Amino acid sequence: MEPLRRHPEGRALRAEVDLRKVARNLGRIRAAAGGRGVWGVVKADAYGHGAVPVGKALMEGGATGLAVSSLEEGLELRRGGVRGPVLVLGGLRPEAVPAASDEGLAVALVGPEHLEAYARLLPAHPLKLHLKLDTGMGRFGFLPSELGPCLPALKVLAPWIEGAMGHFATADDPDQGFAQRQRRVFEACLAQLRDGGIHPSQRHHGNSDACLRNLLGDDTHVRPGLALYGLTLVPEGRALGLEPALELVAEVARVKTVPAGTTVGYGRTFVAPHPLQIATLACGYADGYRRDLGNRAVVGFRGRTYPVVGRVSMDYLTVALPVEVPAAPGDPMVLYSGDPAAPHSLERVAASLGTIPYELTCALHRRITRRFFT
Ligand SMILES: Cc1ncc(COP(=O)(O)O)c(C=O)c1O
Repeated sequence: MEPLRRHPEGRALRAEVDLRKVARNLGRIRAAAGGRGVWGVVKADAYGHGAVPVGKALMEGGATGLAVSSLEEGLELRRGGVRGPVLVLGGLRPEAVPAASDEGLAVALVGPEHLEAYARLLPAHPLKLHLKLDTGMGRFGFLPSELGPCLPALKVLAPWIEGAMGHFATADDPDQGFAQRQRRVFEACLAQLRDGGIHPSQRHHGNSDACLRNLLGDDTHVRPGLALYGLTLVPEGRALGLEPALELVAEVARVKTVPAGTTVGYGRTFVAPHPLQIATLACGYADGYRRDLGNRAVVGFRGRTYPVVGRVSMDYLTVALPVEVPAAPGDPMVLYSGDPAAPHSLERVAASLGTIPYELTCALHRRITRRFFT
């Protein structure tokens, strides 16, 4: 979806994305991955950060290429002027092969179902293929048991097979047992391919956490997403100095002083215990700021944090400030902080909701203005 065009006097809610931090995170994750090539994962509009600007920053920063989930996301990158390698992770129906070929997209081959159709199409519509192996994720990919019977058909596609890939289900789990098992299955599949005369020049099984936890085996490339945005759910990520690239900032729309006993918002779930100021911000659950953050989250303002009070509604939320704190319409308040240690960092807000930061950034609505710092 195109972003909603901003009017200079319009609603003041911004996702501020620092592309310099994205580039630095790329450098850090590449170092953690021992210098392997990086397919930067920018699906879902770069996890809500803005696929085209983030993608360009990653390519300028030396990424091998960009990974997206669908044909449409790949085409969006091309329309935005991204020229480097783009890999469609979610596979492609044969009908879409010509379009992907015209745009020079690489595609994950996610199972045996279209082998014949691809063999018919690729001579006229060439595509680079990355063979997806289901080593234990249980969604896309050839099962190891399917590989043997498919080898003759895969051999026909060998000229186009550039990569072999898998995906960890538990790279963030301190118990690495299952991840190690997936790695062994991957190696066994690669050996099977080699025996069948198929030699992918790229091998990649690792997401962000696999880079951070050294689960990379003999891979040539990695496929991080979350870490590029400076977000992480494992201690190794913070130790690496990843910098959260996104802050969500809303300007105060209205501020007023209310007496003790005033109730705020739908359902009257907040009652002012004493006189205080209520600042109303134009950010609500329609923007992706979850309804259950009311009476739970805090926002940053003038170096301190203040509580979100009452229910978050579709377009607005309300913040309680002591009466003596100077606040005026137009003042910026930080809803998601770029400081990973802040109580309103994306990781902490997500944890308070029992979810993961991916879900919060991906939910940021197109009506939020994206501002990029380069
Ligand atoms: C196939 C694939 N590879 C790589 C990634 C990147 O994972 P992460 O953001 O955890 O690094 C994802 C994300 O969901 C994915 O689906």
